[in-house]
Amino acid sequence: MKDKVDSSRPPDKTMTPLTQSPAWQALQAHRSTLSKQPVYDLFRQDAQRFEQFSLHFDDLLVDFSKQPVTRETLALLLTLARQQDMENWITRLFHGARVNNTEDRAALHIALRSKEPVMLEGENVTLKVNAVLDQMAAFTDKIRSGDHKGYDGQPITDIVNIGIGGSDLGPCMVTEALKPYQSSGIRPHFVSNIDGTQLYETLQPLNPATTLFVIASKTFTTQETLTNAHSARNWFLAQGAQEQDIARHFVAVSTNRAAVAHFGIDPGNMFEFWDWVGGRYSLWSAIGLPIALAIGMDHFRALLAGANAMDQHFLNTPLEKNIPVMLGLIAVWQINFLGVTSHAVLPYDQYLHRFPAYLQQLEMESNGKRIDRNGNAVDYATGTAVWGEPGTNGQHAFYQLLHQGTASISADFLAPCQSQHPIGNHHPLLLANCFAQTQALMCGKNEQEVRHELESSSVSAALREKLIPHKIHPGNHPVTTMLFRKLDPATLGMLIALYEHKVFVQSVIWNINPFDQWGVELGKQLAGKILPELEHDQFTAAYDGSTNGLINFYKRYR
Ligand code: F6P
Repeated sequence: MKDKVDSSRPPDKTMTPLTQSPAWQALQAHRSTLSKQPVYDLFRQDAQRFEQFSLHFDDLLVDFSKQPVTRETLALLLTLARQQDMENWITRLFHGARVNNTEDRAALHIALRSKEPVMLEGENVTLKVNAVLDQMAAFTDKIRSGDHKGYDGQPITDIVNIGIGGSDLGPCMVTEALKPYQSSGIRPHFVSNIDGTQLYETLQPLNPATTLFVIASKTFTTQETLTNAHSARNWFLAQGAQEQDIARHFVAVSTNRAAVAHFGIDPGNMFEFWDWVGGRYSLWSAIGLPIALAIGMDHFRALLAGANAMDQHFLNTPLEKNIPVMLGLIAVWQINFLGVTSHAVLPYDQYLHRFPAYLQQLEMESNGKRIDRNGNAVDYATGTAVWGEPGTNGQHAFYQLLHQGTASISADFLAPCQSQHPIGNHHPLLLANCFAQTQALMCGKNEQEVRHELESSSVSAALREKLIPHKIHPGNHPVTTMLFRKLDPATLGMLIALYEHKVFVQSVIWNINPFDQWGVELGKQLAGKILPELEHDQFTAAYDGSTNGLINFYKRYR
C-alpha cells in the first residue's frame, strides 16, 4: 500500500513547509472552533451574511454564504493566499511566465481570448491567435453558408470531431451547452472513445458526401484519436469517396504540422495552436472549431469575450472580492481542513449536462498531483473526485448520499434565472428544487424537528421513536450556488474561465504544477506492451497473475 496523505496529523519534523506554515497552522486551530457551529446559526448571528458571503460579477451571482465559513475563516484563508504569493502567481500566469515548470513552458490560455496584445518572451502572440481566429471565421462561414461543397456538390450537413480529453470534452460540453445558438442546421458529433462502437454508431446514419471530419489532437500522436481518424478515413473511402476527396472532408487541429501531413491531411487544411495551450485549456483555440462550426463565429467570439471578462476580473480584483480566488480558497478549506474528498457539480440546466465531465478533466487532471513544484512529496490532499449530473435527475439517484451518507461531499449548484425553453411552470419548479436542495443540505433536519413533524402525523408513538433517527438530516454540508441570467455564450465563457482560474488558485496554495499530466503516461506505455500480446492466441505468463488471468480469459472467449 502507498502512503496515505493525512493533512490532520500533528506537527512533526517531516511536515512540508506548507503544513508547517503559520497560515496553515492558524487554519488548523480555527477548524476546531468552527466545526461546532451549524451554518444556519451563523445566519442568525449575522443579518448581512448573504451579502457578506456572496459576490457578483456582471449577471453572475456566486453565493457561498451556505459554506461553513466565518469572516475569520476567510481572513485566515486570505492570509494563506498571501503567504503563498497568490497575486504574484496570477501576474506570472498572465505574463507568460513558465508556470508549467516540468514541461518548461507558459500556460497562456488567457491569450486566446485577450483583447489586448499578450507578450510571450518578446513575441506578441495575439497576432497569431487572431490570424487563426480569422482562418476559423472564413472556414466556418464557408461551411455554414453551404459554399463549401462535399465531393458530390452538396453542402456539409454533419461535422464529426475526432479527439479525446481536452480535444473533446471542452468542445463537446460547449456545443451541447449552446445548442439553442446552433442556427445553421449543421449537426455536430463527437467521437472520442477507442471503442469502435462510438465511431460505428456515429457514422452509421451519416452520408460521407455531406460529412466533414475535424481531427483534433494537440500532439497528433494520441492512439485513440489516430485510430478513430484512420477508421473514419477508411469508412469514407469505402463508401465511394476517392483519395482526392479527402481534402474537402478532413481538416486537422493540432500543434504538430509534420504529423498532420504524415496522416495525409494537407497542412493547408490545418488549424494551428501552440504548445503554451494546455489540452484541457484549449477549447478557446482552434480546438473550438466544432463549436464555431455549430454556433457560428459571432457566438464563438462572445464565448471568448465572456472568458476574457472573467480573466480581467481575476487579474485586477483584490483577493477578497475575486471570485476564482475565493472559490479556490473555500475549496482548500473544504479539502484540507474539513476532510471533503468528493465534489459534486450539479447544474440545474439540462444544457450543462456535460459540464461535470468537462470539470473532471479540468480539476482532476490539473491538480491530481502528489509531488510539489520543488519535487517533494506533499503531506496534504490536492483535490477531490469531481462528478455530477443535472438537477433534478440526481435528486432521485445519489442525493440521498449527500443528505444522509457518511462521506464528506461538497457541492456546486448552478442555475439560470431564465430558461431557454420556458414551458409552463417547469422553470420555477426546477429552481424551487435547486434552492430547496441547497437549503436542505445546509439546514438539515434535527431530532426536534423530526419529532414535531411525526407528532402531527398519524404515525403511532412506537413507530415514531423507531423512525426518528432515520429521518434526521445532519445538514452543514458545504454548498456554493451560482446563479446567472441565462446560459448564453458570454455567460458560459465566464463560467468556464472562473473554474479554470479556481483550479489555478488551488494549485498555488498547494504549490503544485496544474499544467502537466505525467500520470496518464504509465497506462499508455503498458497498453503499448500488452497490445502485441493480444495479436496471437498463446496464453501468457509474462505479467502479474491478475493481468495474465485477464488476458488469457479474453483469449479464450474472444
Ligand atoms: O489524457 C492525457 C492527454 O494528454 C490530455 O491532457 C489531453 O487533453 C488528451 O490527452 C488528448 O491529447 P491530444 O490533444 O494531444 O490528442
